[in-house]
Amino acid sequence: MKNIPVVMIIFGGSGDLAHRKLYPALFNLYEQNLIHDNFAVIGTARRPWSHEYLRGQVSDAVHETHDKVNENDLKDFASHFYYQSHDVTNVEHYVTLKKLAQELDDHYSAQGNRIFYMAMSPRFFGTIATHINDQHLTSTGFNRVVVEKPFGHDLKSAEKLNKQINASFKEEDVFRIDHYLGKEMVQNILPLRFTNPLIKNIWNPKSIKNIQVTLAERLGVEARGGYYETSGAMRDMVQNHIFQIVTLLAMPEPKDLSSTSIHKAKQELLDSLIIPDDDEIKKHFVRGQYLGSDSTFAYKQEPNVDKNSTTETFAAGEIKFKKGPVAGVPIYFRTGKEFKEKKSRIDIVLKHRSNLYGQAHSNNITIEIEPNMQIFITINGKKITETGIRRENLAYTFSKEEKALIPDGYERLLHDIFVNDSTNFTHWSELKRYWQFIDAVEDDWRKEDKTGNPQIAQYLPYRMGPKEASNIFETPTEHWIYE
Ligand code: BG6
Repeated sequence: MKNIPVVMIIFGGSGDLAHRKLYPALFNLYEQNLIHDNFAVIGTARRPWSHEYLRGQVSDAVHETHDKVNENDLKDFASHFYYQSHDVTNVEHYVTLKKLAQELDDHYSAQGNRIFYMAMSPRFFGTIATHINDQHLTSTGFNRVVVEKPFGHDLKSAEKLNKQINASFKEEDVFRIDHYLGKEMVQNILPLRFTNPLIKNIWNPKSIKNIQVTLAERLGVEARGGYYETSGAMRDMVQNHIFQIVTLLAMPEPKDLSSTSIHKAKQELLDSLIIPDDDEIKKHFVRGQYLGSDSTFAYKQEPNVDKNSTTETFAAGEIKFKKGPVAGVPIYFRTGKEFKEKKSRIDIVLKHRSNLYGQAHSNNITIEIEPNMQIFITINGKKITETGIRRENLAYTFSKEEKALIPDGYERLLHDIFVNDSTNFTHWSELKRYWQFIDAVEDDWRKEDKTGNPQIAQYLPYRMGPKEASNIFETPTEHWIYE
């Protein structure tokens, strides 16, 4: 791999994301020589850490995520890290940061290349972008900015943030990260759809009854109640991860695999996204909140959560497009905290007609994103000794050795940022459409809140979410495949 010279500044260098994801991923890229001699990382945050302390944290982060580590390599890798205590609202601190970045650029011959990574609370993204601009932190080489989600709180605030970012960065240098796009099975959607005639030929409204996307989590909101209160499941999971998955499932075939062609195909689809009206939202959307148990808090009892909160920890709904290969096909989604298990999966439910054998079950294609990375097709055959139909799965799976080779989503996406490949990042025009959809649902729910009688389904923890989610389908013959 080519060694890419760069000074990377991580806003949020003492945070959880940097520790759990970014430092281990950077170490893997270092081990593959993508960043090697000519790189430096500046971690910034408010805490008064020293360079040495940050380096210790980086080493810990790598040890925590790797079974075997080459200690000499790790020592050298960590020596490229520098810490600057930084208050994002203090202009003076950007002056110091700029000076440090310049010194490190000279020291490591980083050729004026900069990556700015916003890995802290989203409420500071706009402030950071403004000060990067007014204190001229960009340099003479490439200047890329990585923005974590959520990108805005609604369309209006996203537009404002985008303007602040665009003051210093061109759209092609803005990497809006969605870690789902770095996942192996999400990256498998396009090859699955476009390389298998068996699948490509049935990817149409004549053959597909509906598509179901489930992103279920076992955990509750844990220590993130403060953030979650401002977000809820729609903004936390649907606006980004679910919409990206749905876009990959419904987009037309791109002309080629370049980033430009893929984004063009996505945009073509999204231009035809149907924004639901209040009536459709009432019929096909459900929001819910988890209740407590003997050993767990109800959402409303979690730390930093309002006792009368109407924030949803579960959301289900329907997405439809006017154009594209599955135009008009209902795409149902659901996502929530405190499900019976962690499971991210997609079920493509095929239409079937009554047949010679009477009771044949539907013939489905399932893509399991996590925890078991696999694709399986449920097919019908005959029972061996009695009459009737038996179901079996034809599966596409990975061996243990293959699984060990699959990089973490963050490693993949960081790699893409270094090599300037924006295929798996969210473009502004896509994001705009996602927000228009989310805003429509949120507006309807806020109106309902004001009536004093909000319809928020309560659900028991560690089951399958609220039973009301079974009522969102367009026809009585539809139901959730994953139960
Ligand atoms: C994040 C959300 O984007 O995705 C979290 O903010 C959620 O609330 C997480 O837990 C789920 O990601 P994964 O990769 O564990 O499915």
